[in-house]
Amino acid sequence: MLFHSDITVEPILRVVEILNKAMTLNLVDWNAMNIATVNVDGSPSSRMVLLKKVDDRGFVFYSNFNSRKGKEIEKNNSVALNFWWRELKEQIRVEGKIERLSAEESDEYFNSRALQSRVAAIVSKQSEKIESYEKLNQEIEEMTKSFEDKGEEPERPEHCGLYLIVPSSIEIWKEGDYRTHLREKFTLTSKNTWESCFLSP
Ligand SMILES: Cc1cc2nc3c(=O)[nH]c(=O)nc-3n(C[C@H](O)[C@H](O)[C@H](O)COP(=O)(O)O)c2cc1C
Repeated sequence: MLFHSDITVEPILRVVEILNKAMTLNLVDWNAMNIATVNVDGSPSSRMVLLKKVDDRGFVFYSNFNSRKGKEIEKNNSVALNFWWRELKEQIRVEGKIERLSAEESDEYFNSRALQSRVAAIVSKQSEKIESYEKLNQEIEEMTKSFEDKGEEPERPEHCGLYLIVPSSIEIWKEGDYRTHLREKFTLTSKNTWESCFLSP
């Protein structure tokens, strides 16, 4: 997990402070987040992914561009993120636009992964119907062995890579007793500055 040390955007800094707390406490899957996408009919869907990097641009995760989410993002790049840590009693909501990161950044991440994970990314057609998991696992095993035997490294397939969520609003929610929760919402203005306000719980 990479937090850029030179983050200057205030609400992103606030998010990183909370992520740092969760990481330091070693909370299980502390970097897991839910991402919601919307299809062409306006129907939402959501799933968990792992946050891989945060910098002034926003929030980064790795996925398959041909997956269900990938296809929905192609048609509608508005997304929402949600983090929650029971132990911290904190929730973070992010809304914004999503884009692919550069091939170089995706390659760097892909090449840092274990061989079997890289091979699984090549073989798996994420979100497509599958006949047999046995067949899939066998294919992964065989391809992994073939790379090992030849001493070669797989190249990142074009359908896998990093996504960046560029936030336009970020809400930091802190649980209070008897529903006296604190909600601070940051919104990006048309002048590219961040405004904040408090919301009723
Ligand atoms: C804790 C957790 C972390 C996950 N991390 C990722 C991830 O980083 N990238 C990813 O593509 N899928 C990840 N998944 C699987 C997704 O939730 C989902 O099944 C997959 O991306 C396919 O979603 P889609 O069919 O809506 O595209 C994760 C699942 C869980 C439960």
